Amino acid sequence: MRQTITIAPEEIARQLSLCDQVADLLSRSPGPKRAFVDTYGCQQNEADSERLRGYLARMGYTFTSTEEGADLVLLNTCAIREHAEQRVFGNVGALSHTKRRHPDQIICVCGCMARQDHVAKRLRQSFPYVDLVFGPQLLWQFPQLLLEKLSSGKRVFATDDVPGSVAEGIPVVRQNGLKAWVSVMYGCNNFCTYCIVPYVRGRERSRQPEAILAEVRQLVQEGYKDITLLGQNVNSYGKDLGLGVDFAWLLEQVNAIPGTFLIRFMTSHPKDASPRLFDAMASCEKVAPALHLPFQSGSSWVLKAMNRGYTREHYLDLVRQLRERIPNIVLTSDVIVGFPGETQEEFEETMRLVEEVGYDALFTFIFSPRRGTPAEKLPDPMPKEQKSANFQRLLQRQNEISAQKHQAYVGKTLRCLVDGVGADGRLTARTDGGRLIHLEADPALVGTWQQAEITGSSTWALFGRVV
Ligand code: SAH
Ligand code: SF4
Ligand code: F3S
Repeated sequence: MRQTITIAPEEIARQLSLCDQVADLLSRSPGPKRAFVDTYGCQQNEADSERLRGYLARMGYTFTSTEEGADLVLLNTCAIREHAEQRVFGNVGALSHTKRRHPDQIICVCGCMARQDHVAKRLRQSFPYVDLVFGPQLLWQFPQLLLEKLSSGKRVFATDDVPGSVAEGIPVVRQNGLKAWVSVMYGCNNFCTYCIVPYVRGRERSRQPEAILAEVRQLVQEGYKDITLLGQNVNSYGKDLGLGVDFAWLLEQVNAIPGTFLIRFMTSHPKDASPRLFDAMASCEKVAPALHLPFQSGSSWVLKAMNRGYTREHYLDLVRQLRERIPNIVLTSDVIVGFPGETQEEFEETMRLVEEVGYDALFTFIFSPRRGTPAEKLPDPMPKEQKSANFQRLLQRQNEISAQKHQAYVGKTLRCLVDGVGADGRLTARTDGGRLIHLEADPALVGTWQQAEITGSSTWALFGRVV
């Protein structure tokens, strides 16, 4: 068993006192200091940004929603696909102009891209105005790194491959008063052959159950109603702790916390999802009837080449067992089209799986080679045009299926959490299964649970009114 590195509470206390030193430095120039935190990628990054904001708030920063005129810009980046990286480089490039207008602006780049050596090198060589770069494993040291930058005036690069750790007690500034992310574990051990995450996020490590439960209890007391437990593979929660606990157990413990709130979680890896998990979901009344269970490909050959650790048949069997226990489950998934070596027939197997399972929603991606992953080097004979035609066909078919699934809700009455006001003035709400409802209702209802009668539907959403 790998020993999880726990950052000592005194270390975090030291980081907090460094925040105070930063605040002191900043107060030597007049006026309030504003920070802009720009987040790319998945919920893990959103959760990390909430902690970076926590540190920044402690340093005395207030927050702005644009880089223009911000005293500090922090880009929390994602490396999952080429497109994500290009967007970040484009935006870092554009910062040269804002920095020219505001020469004291401090520009920081962190997150998954920052942990890639070729990215760090490019930032060092081609973007001289970037002041601070650090990988996700060093997030807890952000105050120290920023102070180093501020007091030395030199650029700081903390992008080495240090082992991951678990740090408790970093302050958090959440952006929404109803929905909260709670990381239960960090990193990933699965090394799917296409995926960069294990390289940039390090090995799997779980938080102590008491720390997670205390955080959820606190959130519930503060009025949070929709809590998502996060990890790249939540089903391996606890394996490194040596306490004999697993994710199903954790769900039961969170469910036992008093209060009216909903528990969601992501992501579940099919190789580790089990009937034990489904039983726990079925018996815990606060756990949402929703599961995100990425299948990636409908072909067992492709799944093997992806190192996913399950077959098409095993996946379909899981879905069957899940639906036996929770018939109204809202099922969503991820799929990659055009993995190297995928034949047309193997793609058709993906089409058939999508048909057979009938997902409520599907996140579809075209394979994007990631530097240093095994799939980057695989022969990839299928022409781009064919991949993109397959992708379009899959997308179109899924849209029809999603539209049908939504249509089936019309006339029903469902519980939902009213969570905001949309651009069109109607309220937005989420069903327990996570479907979006555009709701006709009094804005005073934001933040409350309501029963909504579904009066219409589209590919993406439901329409309804409060009953
Ligand atoms: N830990 C999660 C996935 C995180 S990444 C899981 O295992 O399910 C989110 C999704 O991005 C993946 O499910 C996959 O579908 C997609 N993805 C990851 N790497 C990719 C790549 N190199 N090219 C295209 N899509 C990719
Ligand atoms: Fe990537 Fe696979 Fe880990 Fe998910 S389980 S983060 S796809 S390596
Ligand atoms: Fe992107 Fe890192 Fe998440 S690569 S998808 S932000 S774990």
